[in-house]
Amino acid sequence: MSFQNLIYKVENNQATITINRPDKLNALNALTVQEISVAVKQAIADSEVRIIILTGAGEKSFVAGADISEFEGLNEEQSRALAQAGQDAFFVIENSPKPVIAAVNGFALGGGCELAMACHLRVAAENARFGQPEVKLGLIPAYGGTQRLTKLIGKTKALELMITTDMINASEALQLGLVNYVVPQAELMNKTHELASKIMKQAPLAVAGVIRCVNDFYKQVNGFQSEVEVFGKCFKTEDNKEGVAAFKEKRNPVFKGK
Ligand code: COA
Repeated sequence: MSFQNLIYKVENNQATITINRPDKLNALNALTVQEISVAVKQAIADSEVRIIILTGAGEKSFVAGADISEFEGLNEEQSRALAQAGQDAFFVIENSPKPVIAAVNGFALGGGCELAMACHLRVAAENARFGQPEVKLGLIPAYGGTQRLTKLIGKTKALELMITTDMINASEALQLGLVNYVVPQAELMNKTHELASKIMKQAPLAVAGVIRCVNDFYKQVNGFQSEVEVFGKCFKTEDNKEGVAAFKEKRNPVFKGK
């Protein structure tokens, strides 16, 4: 299967999926989200593949978020569908029986941070930056961010990052337990392959079993559904339109709480 916005490669039993929109800092438009889901399912179905690696093209960005240019004019129903599609794709990753490693090579913002968090392990380059800036757009993280960030780093810091929109660097992310390793950018893929090789020495079904049980630990109330609902409502607000307009016009937004 060939993809428009991804590069898909299988080598040494590892499928590498590279999100390939570097001129847009690999922002996730609807097609890219759909292609990620298809590519991960393809890797899961391929008996040659033992590990899946997700990364972004270029040296600046893993993924700088959902594609803001697709937000304009969405009604509540369409924006709920957008959130649901993102969550569904990221559940394919999280529930993959084959380990998925994110090689984070720069900005991992909004949907990019959410994508990295849906992966089982994260290796970050020293230039990686993590953040959930959605409230700046009058929105909330809705590809699982409110749930996974809280699970991974705890409520205290998760809330702070999401409501201040502060970005953190790779060493802060390591300290908070958001990533497994931080390495110089030139070493990113080597470290990722080294981690993959260690896992590939283990029993695949047992590895899949561990992933399943650890995921089960976290299945409680459906905060994900809350995200879809709140995200849909955000799209009805003037602040959302203002946030998106301000981003496009490269100015600071003026919010009114409406
Ligand atoms: N959606 C759509 N386009 C995006 C994008 C996004 N999430 N993030 C970056 N881009 C585009 C920019 O619009 C720009 O396109 P242009 O050259 O056609 O104007 C291009 O990618 C390069 O981005 P730019 O902003 O010029 O790079 P920068 O180095 O000055 O800033 C960021 C980098 C990541 C800080 C900045 O792009 C940013 O804040 N992006 C949005 C992050 C965000 O809010 N994500 C959550 C979305 S829900």
